Formats: sequence, C-alpha cells, structure tokens
Amino acid sequence: MKRLTVPALRARKAAIAQGQGEPLVMLTAYTVRMAQLLDPHCDMLLVGDSLGQVIYGLPSTVPVTLQMMAAHGAAVVRGSYHAVVVIDMPFGSYEASPQQAFESAAYLMKETGAAAVKLEGGAAMALTVAFLSERGIPVVGHVGLTPQAVNALGGYGARGRSDAEAQKIVSDAESIAAAGAFAVVIEGVVEPIAQAITRAIAVPTIGIGASADCDGQVLVAEDMLGLFERTPRFVKRYGDMAGYVSERVETYAAEVRARTFPTAEQTYAPKG
Ligand code: KIV
Ligand code: NA
Repeated sequence: MKRLTVPALRARKAAIAQGQGEPLVMLTAYTVRMAQLLDPHCDMLLVGDSLGQVIYGLPSTVPVTLQMMAAHGAAVVRGSYHAVVVIDMPFGSYEASPQQAFESAAYLMKETGAAAVKLEGGAAMALTVAFLSERGIPVVGHVGLTPQAVNALGGYGARGRSDAEAQKIVSDAESIAAAGAFAVVIEGVVEPIAQAITRAIAVPTIGIGASADCDGQVLVAEDMLGLFERTPRFVKRYGDMAGYVSERVETYAAEVRARTFPTAEQTYAPKG
C-alpha cells in the first residue's frame, strides 16, 4: 500500500461535503509498535504533544521540547507506511515569528520524515501558516480548546459558550484555512461551532470533543484504549488496556514468586 498524501486528504473535503466521502480517521501515536498497529486503519497518525502527559507524566504540554517530538516522530514514521504522519509543533517552537516556526518545522520534518506539522492558534498564527504552507510545509491548524494555552485559558473546559467566544473560534478557523492550512483540528467546543466551521471552510475539519458532523475525528489512542488514567468526557473508551495489563502482570508476578515461571519450555537445555 502506498502512503496517502496531503493533497489526497485535503481533496476528500469536497466528497465529504457532498455526503459521498468517508470521514477521515486520525489517532495519536508516539511509539513504533503502536504506529504499526494503528497505521492500517488510519488516514492520519498524529504525533501529539499530548505525549508530554501520556508518555512523560508532565502536568501539561507546555514543557514538551522539539527534541522529544523529533524522537517520537521518527519512531512513528518508522512504524507506518500508509497514513500521513502529522507532528505537533511544541509550545515555544513557533509562536515568536514565521521564521522561528519554519526552522522548527524543518527540523522536525528532517529528523522524522513526517509529512506535515500541526500548530495551535487562530488569526494570530495565520501569517505563520501561510509562511510555512508557501514553503513546502503542509500545516494542520488547531482551534477551540488549545492545550498549550492552558495557563491563559485557566483549564481544559469546553470553549465557545459565549457568543463572542464562539464567533472568535469560527473566525480563527477561517483565518488559518484561508492562510493555507490543509486541515483544521477543532477541540473541545460546543457542537454548533464545529458544525459552523465545517460548513465554512474548504478543508477538512477533524473533531475531538467537537461534533460527529466534522469531516474526521481524532482521539488520543491511549485514551480510547483505556490505558491512560484520566480521560475527558469526549473520549469513548473502546477497551480497558489498563485492566488487561494489570491482570497479566499480577499473574506473572505470582508465577515468579511461586517458581512456576519459567518452565522447561522457556529454558535452554545444553546440547547432546
Ligand atoms: O496532542 C494531541 O494529542 C492533540 C490531539 C488531541 C488533537 O493535539
Ligand atoms: Na497537541
């Protein structure tokens, strides 16, 4: 199977808008084995800066570095052959100027082989999105609840409950789509905002805590698999990996303590 391309994903918007195309499927991946398992089923794999909390136990995505993103991005590209790999630009690596964003994005693409970057923000980031897009770097936008701004927002609650805030989120999405983003993630907003953006912009919207009417959906894989300990309201838990792991490790520990593992089957006998 040949790897999907950014233009192919962008072009799906028209078909989806006419009710003819299937919604885009996206999940996060941070490691090679998880990438291998998710890749055949996904249109896009996101190397999310959520790895700060999920992999490193950090309190937010704010401390995540370019080097952390590069290491995990390279692993995910090595573990995938079908999906478009999108890598998050971490906080502090792109906001200062379009030039800073270009250097950071080019570093991530060279180090990882990812096909696209994602960055958070609306109108304030439009110039940067245009600067990257015009220079060969496909960009996914991210509006609504933008976790890198947690210190300014005061928490992770849904956005757009007031008319003014709702209007701002819609115009933010329009700004970055007009600037050349090839897709826009909409996170944690009241549903009519996600529906309005999906109608308004010419590129696919990818929802997370947004709406079933978005052109695609994304979740953190560890959340939907029931592996991470805290999950927000918008996560559907498709499994209980935490419970699965705990039970098997309990059995292993008991067998080691009882000397029932290893047995002859897992032991090398001398020759002859
Ligand atoms: O970092 C991440 O996992 C994300 C998705 C939740 C959209 O940005
Ligand atoms: Na992110």
